[in-house]
Amino acid sequence: MNPTVTPAPGLLLPTADLPPSFRWGVATSSYQIEGAVAEDGRTPSIWDTFCRMPGAVVGGDNGDVACDHYHRMPQDVALIKSLGVDTYRFSVAWPRVQPGGRGPANQAGLAFYDRLTDRLLAEGIDPWVTLYHWDLPQELEDAGGWPNRDTAYRFADYAMLVFDKLSDRVDNWTTLNEPWCSAWLGYYVGVHAPGRKNFDDAIAAVHHLLLGHGLATQRMRAAATREMKFGITLNMGTADPATDTAADRDAARRADGMGLRIYLDPLRKGSYPADMVEDLAARGTAFPVQDGDLEVISTPFDVLGVNFYFGQDFSGTDEQGNTHDADGHPVVRAILPAGPRTAMDWPITAERFTQLLVRLHRDYPGLPMVITENGAAFDDSADADGNVADEDRTSYLAEHIAAVAAAREQGADVRGYFAWSLMDNFEWAEGYAKRFGIVHVDYETQVRTPKQSALWYRDTISRVRGS
Ligand code: NOJ
Repeated sequence: MNPTVTPAPGLLLPTADLPPSFRWGVATSSYQIEGAVAEDGRTPSIWDTFCRMPGAVVGGDNGDVACDHYHRMPQDVALIKSLGVDTYRFSVAWPRVQPGGRGPANQAGLAFYDRLTDRLLAEGIDPWVTLYHWDLPQELEDAGGWPNRDTAYRFADYAMLVFDKLSDRVDNWTTLNEPWCSAWLGYYVGVHAPGRKNFDDAIAAVHHLLLGHGLATQRMRAAATREMKFGITLNMGTADPATDTAADRDAARRADGMGLRIYLDPLRKGSYPADMVEDLAARGTAFPVQDGDLEVISTPFDVLGVNFYFGQDFSGTDEQGNTHDADGHPVVRAILPAGPRTAMDWPITAERFTQLLVRLHRDYPGLPMVITENGAAFDDSADADGNVADEDRTSYLAEHIAAVAAAREQGADVRGYFAWSLMDNFEWAEGYAKRFGIVHVDYETQVRTPKQSALWYRDTISRVRGS
């Protein structure tokens, strides 16, 4: 890497507001980077299956090779080290560790994460483990997937296999990544694996994901022999009414309820929000709660992982002015705020990041937060050597880190920030077309080249640390 990069004048941060102890990291997930999908006993996950459904993924892409991280892990850890971060957030592939989703651990699969952990620690990098980043073993989906209650118990068993192997060295444990995506996109909208489209199934999936989180947290906590940090990562945005009409305010309430409160209320308050329960009842459905579930789900945890990409406005009318859709359900229409967009066509709304963090601090107090993902895809153009002058991504990161600093100033207890992502990777339904990395990956050669944003990130971290 080049020794230094001079940030553009607008990219200097109010770094005085971030303490030297602030945690800095980069994040990835197993299916998005590992490849090696049939090696050392791994069995297919729902994403291996989904990618083979015609039209499911842009370009017909899949994770068979991805960034070939499974074979290039030592070099990738050296790359992480060169960025000067103190934390690496990665996920463990369930079908590698417990093929088929049941039974004993597959030692060959676990060994990969064992080696990764050792290598990170040898480089002075703190491993931050996510247990579930969407790669459910296909056999469990065949048995009903997350809408099936048994999957929650299977998840807790699997979590313990990983915990037993790595907990002598790993301190930070995230149960689930973005359960909204698993439930909503996977079982209702159908644009993520397993590609099902059933509202009741999505609601059942929400409950069983949360139950799995609670069961796993209880068992890991009980088995811990020293202080560890347990948590869950949620993707959250802001949901503002597009105008001040009653219909728009109600649409924003519903969006906030389905996107944020149906997760955080049971996790932190031990109950689903009454307005959402009512809305679901009006739709003839309900969370499949059994006695004791909410006690399990509200098991105390130590850190809330926040993934933020953008905020939205909501309207309660469709483009023709109707307040109900063809099925008679109230309209909840997202309207993207004006202004610049990323390559995902997501608006850039850094000020809403501050609003979200301050609101979380206010509505769910006493819960330290870490930004477990934030970043942006842009249509990078690499020169012949793979260099990318990604001013747009650098600005995005700078504005959002400044938004975190602003939220801290208003009292939000945010303790760290992880850039999404370490490197370009398999962006789910978008395939490899969308690049979120701060490091460029040439998929033909697997050469990794830090982009300008990576150099800027490294220098920013060092500035904040005063090193
Ligand atoms: C959130 C997900 O956790 C991650 O896997 C994904 O790549 C990013 N968002 C960007 O869409």
